[in-house]
Amino acid sequence: MSSQIDHLLDETRQFPPSEAFVAQSVSSPALYERAAADREAFWAEQSRELLEWHKPFTQVLDWSTPPFAKWFDDGELNVAYNCLDRHVEAGNGDRVALHWEGEPGDSRTLTYAELTEEVKRVANVLEGLGVGHGDRVAIYLPMIPEAVAAMLAVARVGAIHSVVFGGFSADSLRSRIDDAGAKLVITADGGYRKGRVSALKPAVDQALADRGEGEQQTVEHVLVVKRGENEVEWQDGRDLWWHDVVPAASAEHTAEAFPAENPLFILYTSGTTGKPKGILHTSGGYLTQAAYSHKYVFDLHPETDVYWCTADIGWITGHSYVTYGPLANGATQVIYEGTPDSPHPGRWWEIIEKYKVSIFYTAPTAIRSFMKIGRSVPAKFDLSSLRLLGSVGEPINPEAWIWYRDVIGAGTTPIVDTWWQTETGAIMVSALPGVTATKPGSAQVPLPGISIDVVDESGEEVGKGNGGLLVITEPWPSMLRGIWGDPERYKETYWEKFEKQGYYFAGDGARLDDDGDLWLLGRVDDVMNVSGHRLSTAEIESSLVAHEATAEAAVVGAADETTGQAVVAFVIIKESYLSAHDPAGLAQQLRLWVGEQIGAIARPRDVYIVGELPKTRSGKIMRRLLRDVAEGREVGDTTTLADTAVMSIISAQVK
Ligand code: WTA
Repeated sequence: MSSQIDHLLDETRQFPPSEAFVAQSVSSPALYERAAADREAFWAEQSRELLEWHKPFTQVLDWSTPPFAKWFDDGELNVAYNCLDRHVEAGNGDRVALHWEGEPGDSRTLTYAELTEEVKRVANVLEGLGVGHGDRVAIYLPMIPEAVAAMLAVARVGAIHSVVFGGFSADSLRSRIDDAGAKLVITADGGYRKGRVSALKPAVDQALADRGEGEQQTVEHVLVVKRGENEVEWQDGRDLWWHDVVPAASAEHTAEAFPAENPLFILYTSGTTGKPKGILHTSGGYLTQAAYSHKYVFDLHPETDVYWCTADIGWITGHSYVTYGPLANGATQVIYEGTPDSPHPGRWWEIIEKYKVSIFYTAPTAIRSFMKIGRSVPAKFDLSSLRLLGSVGEPINPEAWIWYRDVIGAGTTPIVDTWWQTETGAIMVSALPGVTATKPGSAQVPLPGISIDVVDESGEEVGKGNGGLLVITEPWPSMLRGIWGDPERYKETYWEKFEKQGYYFAGDGARLDDDGDLWLLGRVDDVMNVSGHRLSTAEIESSLVAHEATAEAAVVGAADETTGQAVVAFVIIKESYLSAHDPAGLAQQLRLWVGEQIGAIARPRDVYIVGELPKTRSGKIMRRLLRDVAEGREVGDTTTLADTAVMSIISAQVK
């Protein structure tokens, strides 16, 4: 990490937008001025301009009981109506909403009129199943149009969705279903990944099986989309095929207005403990900032742009920048089911060429893996439609930034590096492409209306040229409203550290350069970032110790050239187990075990079987030292260890 930081400090290149770009841009310096003059009035103005309120709001922000915010509290709206019907009513029903590309090469195009009709039918199905205001619906689907339709249908009836990434295991799905008390699960038989069908329905069956004593089965129905054509088991009365019930439902459905603070979704994300947090977002403020940031950060011209965000709907990026932001803005977008390299390494560039994508939003880890393959692959495709590139999920190193601009963006497109989190709901820090001179590696400036600072441990501003902790100093419309079922944890995790100042603690380290631009430096807590996905060391450790062979485990995020960080585990095996098994086989078994328990993304890159773990006298594991070993560095200061010899033993065992 430190060598990367030194490197960042040397980076001084700047890329101002071209005159032509500025001339057509939807943003201007005036946005910053208006927001600075009156922040709340600015957000009210954005909300009125970008959304249609069934009942207009008269209040903007209620911050009388921090950290519990209410935005636009007395207003009423329907989120799905804002993403669909109103565009049709405005005469844009024939505009393409989704260009969907399946991994095997099949495709479908849905206009706003068609997507609206589909969502109305699904809404009728949901209501027919007794799903309505406040009920929770788990969505466990591949990237198919039905995934977007399902989210919007849930929103339309005032229910709350909890999308669970299709790569998560049955166990992960189960705990999320139970925590939210979901009444319905929407899934598919399977979906295409890496050239084959990956089944989903069996995981749902498993997640719903065997409720023990004291455990409640809240799920009444499972709605199943046929996609993979794989054989699935069926529970009559509980399971329903989408293709049986949706086309048969009425295409008439009136969107009811719900209060601005009506919960819209729960999205589980990793924290510093073993238990994922259900981040809760609500309607009016969330949709305002999703639409606002999508419009200005991506310089959206909805009549002409073709936008593509490669995120899966299982992540917050897929919520805000596939489903809600783009559709609220009436954009035309591409969604793609599969992996970037199936069936060939140029698959993404082929899709950009095919649909003439003009705005492209992806993660640094993807860019770095394309860099590895080389420029000859993208060079085979016509990428001249691209006019703006975005990055999200982790810091983008200057080399990857420059490669992205040169090779994918023909050396001309602006790049927006967007910093935000599941908790922030929408982009918080980013260049505005028609205004900001961009700097490779820096996320740069808070969006107009957003207040960010970098402070030291005591909450004091560090000032230009210094590093510290990133904080958000004022409430923002799309902020999380809490953790599902756990208000205490919400306060503790985000607000306790800087309680005196009333700042939101993001968990990220950052530096302000001499111009006051922000450089993100990674997490300061035990959260890892692997390929832009958040994973908790504690969650993986508890999965490892749940295996019968394991006595103790410690997990660290080690720097990785492609994935940013990689999961590396150090495991002490029980004596009895060790004598009966081969250590290499055990390590592999544990890797697969974590994959089954949590999901393939959490599978450790390396599992080292060791005899001891480095602990302080008070018994705390010193992960810092393990990280040194995992990154092949000389081991740092060991003086606080209870047994200072332990690190040389571990190093020897790892080699
Ligand atoms: C990291 C993803 C540097 C950061 C939207 C944050 C970033 C965590 C950037 C949130 C960026 C996200 N530069 N770091 N542009 N974007 N991060 O909740 O550590 O999956 O706290 O949200 O990703 O991850 P999450």
